Amino acid sequence: MNAKETEITPSQTTSRFWQFWDWLIVLVAVFRSVEVPTVVALKFLESSPFLDFGVNLTTCSVLLLDILLRFRRPVQTVRGTLHGKPARLHYLRTYFLFDLIGSLPWGIIAIHFLPQNNWSVPISFLCLLRLARVAAFSQNFVRTPSRFFIARRLTVFLLWIALVIHLLACGWIAVGGVTHGLTAGHTYIRALYWSVTTVSTTGFGDITPKTEPQMIYTMLAMILGAGLYATVVANVASLIARADSARAAFDSKIERLNTFMKYKNMPDPLQKKILGYHEYLWQTGLGHDHETLLEDLSPGLRRSVGVFLNRHIMEQIPMLQGAETAVLHRLISGLTSVVYTPGDTIIHHGETGSTMYLINRGEVEVFDPKQGVVATMGEGEYFGELALLDPERPRLADVRAKTFCALSMINRETFAMVLEQFPDFAAHVRKVAASRLAESDLRAAQI
Ligand code: CMP
Repeated sequence: MNAKETEITPSQTTSRFWQFWDWLIVLVAVFRSVEVPTVVALKFLESSPFLDFGVNLTTCSVLLLDILLRFRRPVQTVRGTLHGKPARLHYLRTYFLFDLIGSLPWGIIAIHFLPQNNWSVPISFLCLLRLARVAAFSQNFVRTPSRFFIARRLTVFLLWIALVIHLLACGWIAVGGVTHGLTAGHTYIRALYWSVTTVSTTGFGDITPKTEPQMIYTMLAMILGAGLYATVVANVASLIARADSARAAFDSKIERLNTFMKYKNMPDPLQKKILGYHEYLWQTGLGHDHETLLEDLSPGLRRSVGVFLNRHIMEQIPMLQGAETAVLHRLISGLTSVVYTPGDTIIHHGETGSTMYLINRGEVEVFDPKQGVVATMGEGEYFGELALLDPERPRLADVRAKTFCALSMINRETFAMVLEQFPDFAAHVRKVAASRLAESDLRAAQI
């Protein structure tokens, strides 16, 4: 099928009715693919002819109704939505024939209208043509981005495998691979057992082919089984690996880092500090490569994610709440996240400064070279604002990380913008700054 004509996943279509209908058709088609070959192979019909007749007619009617509806239904493709004649032509060119043949009551035809022979089961398999659409549906289903991506993939994959095993078992009954005279249930269990041992390449050899058709069938099943087995192993292994790909990437980064540190003969305490830093980033979720992950988003989405990720700042500083969206976005784009390890000096006394810091997590202490620790600050507090309020003034004190600290750095321009836009916050900052300066002057006078 042309890529441009590829139908879009049902979850993207707007109508709830069509979503429900698609699911219903998938369920009916899968049910028939399981039921029809089973009934024909086991000739269940002899014991309950009316029930099966009714089930067959109902399911076929639903599937045939689906074909009629498809002719009236718009088709969503990557190129846009097709209506009327183009939509009908699109359907005729793609699934129509599969759907039509697959929807006929093959169970009833095979049992009531055709001579009972070895061909009954293969003929009933024609209802499997309806699975063409189910295959496309399930492919779309697993490809739709979702939080349950891995669970979805695994479930769909295992359901397909189960269906193949079941159909192989029905075929095994049809070629007379199971001792006659057993009840339907026992016959099926034995056939299923043969199917599982063959497909899983175990092959215990307790149920073996006796006739030539059985041998040919077994050979084909073995070839199919080998391929299927390899696919199962490869898929499950790749899904398990993907389940924790973030942790795998983290581990490989640590491995590279370890090699580098050993190669450069770094002292042990420094190595431990570096590893501790990475562990902290991992545990707090700060280690994810935000920039790269967000790069692919549209500008609007990226901004919304930015607002969400920095929401704690608005929560910590109530005076910033109620800001206009544009101001909020400017504020957020002027923030940079940074992490310090215990003992790191964040601000050096006497230097000129161009950033202030908001504490998102952790504790810092303000250290006066002459007086020692003069203040301790924690979550929601800020420091480094004095150098921004007066660019001439060098940093008043050292500020050191007491614990691991996750901080948001605010540059000069953003700080000026915030002061201008939030007069309450500006007044508060100026008041705190005045008291910090007064405290510092007082200490200087005492010395
Ligand atoms: P700045 O001078 O830019 O850099 C050092 C920072 O330490 C300073 O800004 C203040 O934010 C902070 N600081 C200085 N003295 C005190 C204090 N007594 N109490 C709390 N914080 C202080």
